Amino acid sequence: MTHHAVAAGSYDLTGGPVWHLRALWRRSHIWKPFRSHIENFLGTWPVRERELLLVGPSAGWCLPENFLRGFSIIHAMDPDPFAALLFRLHHPHARIGAWHRADFFLEGDDFLNRHPGAAVLFCNMLGQRRYVNYDISSVEEELRIIKTRLRGRNWASFHDLLSGKGEATSEVKELKTCLEQATLLSSLDLSGEWLDHLSGDVLPRHQPRQIIPWQFAKGRVHLVEAGYVSS
Ligand SMILES: C[S@@+](CC[C@H](N)C(=O)[O-])C[C@H]1O[C@@H](n2cnc3c(N)ncnc32)[C@H](O)[C@@H]1O
Repeated sequence: MTHHAVAAGSYDLTGGPVWHLRALWRRSHIWKPFRSHIENFLGTWPVRERELLLVGPSAGWCLPENFLRGFSIIHAMDPDPFAALLFRLHHPHARIGAWHRADFFLEGDDFLNRHPGAAVLFCNMLGQRRYVNYDISSVEEELRIIKTRLRGRNWASFHDLLSGKGEATSEVKELKTCLEQATLLSSLDLSGEWLDHLSGDVLPRHQPRQIIPWQFAKGRVHLVEAGYVSS
């Protein structure tokens, strides 16, 4: 496993205009299978709450409309200046309440405390933390303690776990518990160099999860881990 150094820290690497243009085009083509895997995963998440917090939803390019319509109110937090407007255009039927242009790692606790009865969904942003914070052990710690910050909540996350060169299989891998990354890669018949997104300790180790293949671009694949903790 290689911990690649990544270039300068900026939210532009995890969102922003390039992300939106890419998503606009790829969502109906190369990302279509991934979007349907995410829809299936969200369908397995038992949510009784009528209020939802979205963390890092961007414009919701990969979020299913039907899932969002199930909530009577949705609040969101994303530092991307374009996200709120594009989300509203893309999901006109989602009932959006407050939209905070802010960083969850700085202002997340306030956000959570303001909505104590809401379910929480991390929308493919935790695995990108290393693009913004270069201190590997500090990122691992930030991600490891998410489950403590969310204690008592119903929460779910899908996040980049590993990424590298290759073509995605169409299969989602169901895991009963956490698997060592090297074991996971060999069970998927994958080898070579993979970027570790440092998110292997986001979900409690005993929690079942899915490994969802995401063909991000031609020749580039992300393995996205998806799971929930229903309290
Ligand atoms: C890969 S995009 C998410 C895409 C989203 N799942 C979709 O369906 O379009 C990651 C998003 O997370 C946001 N983000 C990154 N770091 C964040 C943080 N610390 N707090 C909140 N949002 C963050 C970025 O601005 C970006 O919009």
